[in-house]
Amino acid sequence: MCEKKRIRMEKTISILGFAGSLRKGSYNRALLRAALELVPKGAKLEVFDLEGIPPFNQDLENQPPQKVKEFKTKIRATDAILIATPEANYTLPGVLTNAMNWASRPYRDNAFDGKPVAVMGASIGMLGTARAQYHLRQSFVFLNMIPINRPEVMVPFAQDKIDKEGKVTDQKTREKIGELLESLVAWTKRLKGA
Ligand SMILES: Cc1cc2nc3c(=O)[nH]c(=O)nc-3n(C[C@H](O)[C@H](O)[C@H](O)COP(=O)(O)O)c2cc1C
Repeated sequence: MCEKKRIRMEKTISILGFAGSLRKGSYNRALLRAALELVPKGAKLEVFDLEGIPPFNQDLENQPPQKVKEFKTKIRATDAILIATPEANYTLPGVLTNAMNWASRPYRDNAFDGKPVAVMGASIGMLGTARAQYHLRQSFVFLNMIPINRPEVMVPFAQDKIDKEGKVTDQKTREKIGELLESLVAWTKRLKGA
């Protein structure tokens, strides 16, 4: 097959992104908005808002709330996942853990199973969510998600890199988000054998 035709036939890689913050002015939601602008050719990104997902209750895991059903359906339909995590008390924020708990249940119905995933995170502290990101990577083992290792996008002192309108203004941060997306797309294609 000629190269032109092969490129035309390549399927668009779909990415589902979500942030572990409900805050209107969230720096992590801002990272996802920047990612929407930086998504590489041949890929598309949809952002899912975790607002409205109730606290996990295992009594309901076999008949989850509508918002959780929607979340799981979107996870299953996507080729890859992009997570923007804040850090809370040196670990993952409850909003993110809660949503991921719902999506991974009931046992044997884990929507994340086998999904390629990339992580980024912003905090006002000097470690830029490093601790939270490594805790998240630990969960990927049980969830059977397949993360890219690099680049690690840890955005410290986010208040200096994201303006009042929620735009990522720091050029280096934008470059890193772009690289992360490129790596995630390449990784996803490799896993699909595409
Ligand atoms: C309960 C709580 C715990 C926090 N713990 C940490 C922390 O461990 N490390 C850190 O860098 N920032 C911590 N912060 C500050 C966050 O970096 C900051 O609130 C950030 O804006 C949260 O992300 P968001 O803007 O996406 O909501 C904490 C904030 C809250 C509310």
